[in-house]
Amino acid sequence: MKEIPLLISGGRIIDPSQGADMVGDLLVLEGKIAWLGPGGSAPLQGDCAVISASGMIVCPGFVDLHCHLREPGFEQKETIATGTQAAARGGFTTVCCMANTNPPIDTEAVIEYIKGKTKEEGKVRVLPIACVTKGQRGEELVEMGKLAKYGAVAFSDDGRAVTNSRIMRHALEYSSLFRLPVIVHCEDIALTEGGAMNEGWVATKLGLKGMPAAAEEIMLARDLALAQLTGARLHIAHTSTAGAVELICQAKGKGISVSAEVTPHHLTLTEQRVLGYETDAKVNPPLRTEKDITALIHGLKEGVINAIATDHSPHTIVDKRCEFARAAFGISGLETALGSLLTLVHQDKLDLITLISKLTTEPAQILGTRPPVPYGLGTLQTGAPGDVAVFAPQIDWVVDPKAFASKGKNTPLKGQQLVGKVMATIVEGKIVYQDETIEIKPA
Ligand code: DOR
Repeated sequence: MKEIPLLISGGRIIDPSQGADMVGDLLVLEGKIAWLGPGGSAPLQGDCAVISASGMIVCPGFVDLHCHLREPGFEQKETIATGTQAAARGGFTTVCCMANTNPPIDTEAVIEYIKGKTKEEGKVRVLPIACVTKGQRGEELVEMGKLAKYGAVAFSDDGRAVTNSRIMRHALEYSSLFRLPVIVHCEDIALTEGGAMNEGWVATKLGLKGMPAAAEEIMLARDLALAQLTGARLHIAHTSTAGAVELICQAKGKGISVSAEVTPHHLTLTEQRVLGYETDAKVNPPLRTEKDITALIHGLKEGVINAIATDHSPHTIVDKRCEFARAAFGISGLETALGSLLTLVHQDKLDLITLISKLTTEPAQILGTRPPVPYGLGTLQTGAPGDVAVFAPQIDWVVDPKAFASKGKNTPLKGQQLVGKVMATIVEGKIVYQDETIEIKPA
């Protein structure tokens, strides 16, 4: 059946990839961006569906470089079906899924399984990240060439650092043959063992063992040195400290091939969220301090940090409703990302264009264009995939985890009012999510 065209009319269209910021119409045809321009002048013939986006922002669909979909192996926490539904509700049209599944993504069979499941049940595009080492054990490299051929877009042992520096060096040398990034979880585990939150006065007050900022920075410094040695592409996952921002800035100044991401929670919440032994605020790296948040925002504005990635980490109630020290690390973040990030815009700490760029064009640039990454990801340029997010920046709503599509109800934002709501998400021209208040009319 031939798909009818989709016209998104009267919204403020923002596409950082082409410096576009205009009120107008966007036309999606046969799964691709066909045209954008002034209202009422779209080159349309015949039937089309219309989303009236007046007062809303229309931008490329968000690209999440870092989320945990948990399938295969931890389907009690999340599945590709529920995780991609959560992504669609959050405005994300592409998500990169992390390798710490069971079995982990270290063979072509697991990649094939994820591809098959996504085809059957996925709402948005899923790009797999394969392990750096077999079983994430940090001992033996995966067959990177084979996994790249099957569709891995990057390599990461996320959740764990590759502690052996020689193995990390080889991982960087090997991955550079395919120009794919190695995504690193920077943590010196000798310093964080038994730790449950940021090291500081809150940890002391609660009697919890802390994880110092230095644990992240030591491992980051090592990985930057290895990236310099090998010339390989390094991507820093969930940057959380002011010192890390400084190290990445220096490395970029030296011409090291490094990019970095930061999560919505590290940009908006401090360690004080843990007061009351709030296990939903337990995350790794831990929530830090106001000083770190200021540095992370500055890093985004200055281009030191390239992307915002959710690190969506769904867990079950059993994983979280327990003693703090035993609770799992992680925040379910796909459905609250935009609302919490817009807080920074409403408070004049970050401008809207930079925010959108860090959720769309810049993460897409990190992924490059090697298949399965489609050409034109993260842009609204003509011929790009018809991936679009439509959101109302001023509509407020209250976070109710029970209403999440994600199986992971673990959010410290429960009951909080957020201002800014995703109204529609479109993947390759198909509407994969629409707010109940949105009407789609025939033209
Ligand atoms: O909080 C986290 N949760 N940090 C990680 O690095 C891993 C993740 C998970 O898999 O739950």
